[in-house]
Amino acid sequence: MNTIPKGFPEGFLWGGATAANQLEGGYDQGGKGLSTADMMTAGTHTVPRRITTELLPGENYPSHEAVDFYHRYAEDIALFGEMGFKVFRLSIAWSRIFPNGDEAEPNEEGLAFYDRVFAELQQRGIEPLVTISHYEAPFSLTKIYNGWSDRRVIDFYVNYCETLFKRYKGIVKYWLTFNEINILTMPLGTFLAGAMIPENGMELTNPDSSTDQARFQALHHQFVASAKAVKLGHSIDPDFKIGCMIAYMCAYPLTSDPADVLLAQQKDNIGNFLCGDVHVRGQYPGFAKRYFAEKGVELLFEAEDEQILLEGTVDFYTFSYYSSVCVSADPEQEKIGGNMSMGLKNPYLKASAWEWQIDPQGLRWVLNNVYNRYRLPMMVVENGLGAVDEVEADGSIRDDYRIEYLREHIKEMKEAIIDGVDLIGYTPWGCIDLVSAGTGEMKKRYGFIHVDKDNEGQGTLNRSRKASFHWYKQVIASNGETL
Ligand code: BG6
Repeated sequence: MNTIPKGFPEGFLWGGATAANQLEGGYDQGGKGLSTADMMTAGTHTVPRRITTELLPGENYPSHEAVDFYHRYAEDIALFGEMGFKVFRLSIAWSRIFPNGDEAEPNEEGLAFYDRVFAELQQRGIEPLVTISHYEAPFSLTKIYNGWSDRRVIDFYVNYCETLFKRYKGIVKYWLTFNEINILTMPLGTFLAGAMIPENGMELTNPDSSTDQARFQALHHQFVASAKAVKLGHSIDPDFKIGCMIAYMCAYPLTSDPADVLLAQQKDNIGNFLCGDVHVRGQYPGFAKRYFAEKGVELLFEAEDEQILLEGTVDFYTFSYYSSVCVSADPEQEKIGGNMSMGLKNPYLKASAWEWQIDPQGLRWVLNNVYNRYRLPMMVVENGLGAVDEVEADGSIRDDYRIEYLREHIKEMKEAIIDGVDLIGYTPWGCIDLVSAGTGEMKKRYGFIHVDKDNEGQGTLNRSRKASFHWYKQVIASNGETL
């Protein structure tokens, strides 16, 4: 009764995380179709990315080459192996497998590419963790169906899942149905996650005016699609572990004013627990129904949807965690950025150059908050510091700030494990430098591995080890004891 865990359990899944559109490049190779991500231009911290409905000559579309994992995967996976990765989170580009999204038969060349990637991982003893849809869909689905607003897209997605599940049975065990599905609770998610054309404005920003109705309907379609995929996956291979992925938006009350405390709880409910509850419990929570009623959102539910949601609950819960914000019922407070969300400055925290507040203890809070609710195994599948790295004259990169960030977060994960949280894995974001999703920049780097490429797309694409590479290697070797 009195034995408590001492630290990271044996077999803990240490690794790193990426997404196809930010990593692979090869956007038109091997029969791949255009994806929504291929239509997004580069931006900066202050200039938003734009969405174009055709590819415009002379524009910089960062996904087209990204960091060329499509050709360099063997070298990259060797470096992951050298760090001792137990797991590698990657996503599959849907438009590599179904170039238009709605074909009946897959593109063999696309599948063959991932065969090679998985074989390389297997050779190094690295377990793949596959995100089935990470902020991209075949762009043709946007053009013909306006993305996830159309219920027919559910079947296209499930057909895509079936193709993956059958092909990679026995090779891939861990799957995530949608990356950061809860981004669809915010306008920013309209195109990024929903593959829908925003009604007003083609910039990737939060305050576009697409209606809540469209986004929450699209979200409902993704819930149904996810639940169908979970059920189907288990029928194809009962050993599959299929999880959800939430962008955990950690919002504290700015003061002890009960109005602030209640507001923070409401943000947690709508921002995080709405999606978590549907995925984990198979039902919409009561607060969501009230929220929809107050927003005038009326979801179109098919007769079978309730049953589908109940039968397709996930096996584990994963989330991204980068920062926290404060919220206040007082509208006069100053705003600051965050992982896809905005909030208020916390006077106790420092922020990154991109204004994301650094809050390691918040990670322990989130782990406890979620585990107490669901009691499912958990993984932190994104975490990290986006920073500008300087290459020294001798080629070295001393990213002590990144080590510091990760060290403090790992310490808090260990505390959460001692608190009793069933944490099974950790995949810091962008284990190799890649394109920023939010800004399309290269200079916002997260990696242990440096990639020689700048914001304008110039560079050799050569890989090199940062100081954090050597540090993370010993963290893994010591199972989180040597920090
Ligand atoms: C998460 C996304 O929201 O944050 C990733 O799942 C993204 O795709 C990551 O890259 C970091 O955000 P950014 O904007 O710094 O790339």
